[in-house]
Amino acid sequence: MSKGIKIAIDGPAAAGKSTIAKMAAEKLGYTYIDTGAMYRALTYKALVRNIDINDGDYLGELLQQTEILLVPLQERQAVIMDGVDVSEAIRSQNVTTNVSTVATHTAVRQLMVEKQRKLSEGTGVVMDGRDIGIAVLPDAELKIFMTASVEERAKRRHIENSKRGISTSLTQLKAEISERDRIDSEREVSPLRRAGDAVLIDTTLMTIEEVAKKISELAEERKEQ
Ligand code: DC
Repeated sequence: MSKGIKIAIDGPAAAGKSTIAKMAAEKLGYTYIDTGAMYRALTYKALVRNIDINDGDYLGELLQQTEILLVPLQERQAVIMDGVDVSEAIRSQNVTTNVSTVATHTAVRQLMVEKQRKLSEGTGVVMDGRDIGIAVLPDAELKIFMTASVEERAKRRHIENSKRGISTSLTQLKAEISERDRIDSEREVSPLRRAGDAVLIDTTLMTIEEVAKKISELAEERKEQ
């Protein structure tokens, strides 16, 4: 029996990558790997310890001493760092504001890529992030670059936050998402780019179901090749 293919989903902040990646992984019976959660976990650890997030070498060393596990549960994927469930903590505003800076450092990225490749060995996988199609899984059978207008992404995040009881200003969300896009696209190491062989999906006018269907169809095609 086939072990399954590798699916890489990249794109800017809040484009709906994780929702879709989770759905696709479930449907295909594959492992879902949220690489953003790994960068967030390291950022959380650094903030709790008052570590300078501009010190890349130190952050690289800190990551070397950090265990990050992505544990599939029924409803969600739990992020366990050094034995503690940090799934909620890594979504805090403080982590969101600082994670792009942590992710600029070479020492951090090299080790993250290594960890992420290990997690994908020997299994069908759906991995989402910023550098998956180019740096982590350059041989992925299916690469998607998912995007949406910044207005739409801010609107979706606003609704998601409201559901979680968090009140945020739409204008502020838009500014924050644009700033993260800027840092992620302008950094020197593995900036956010669409891989040449990635399928571009602009989800601005699409429902989640439509996007999920499109990706399932593409995955079925690639599985058969
Ligand atoms: O997907 P997310 O919003 O949880 O990601 C948080 C940050 O982590 C994002 O702003 C950039 C960084 N990131 C990255 O540089 N490379 C990845 N593969 C995933 C995330």
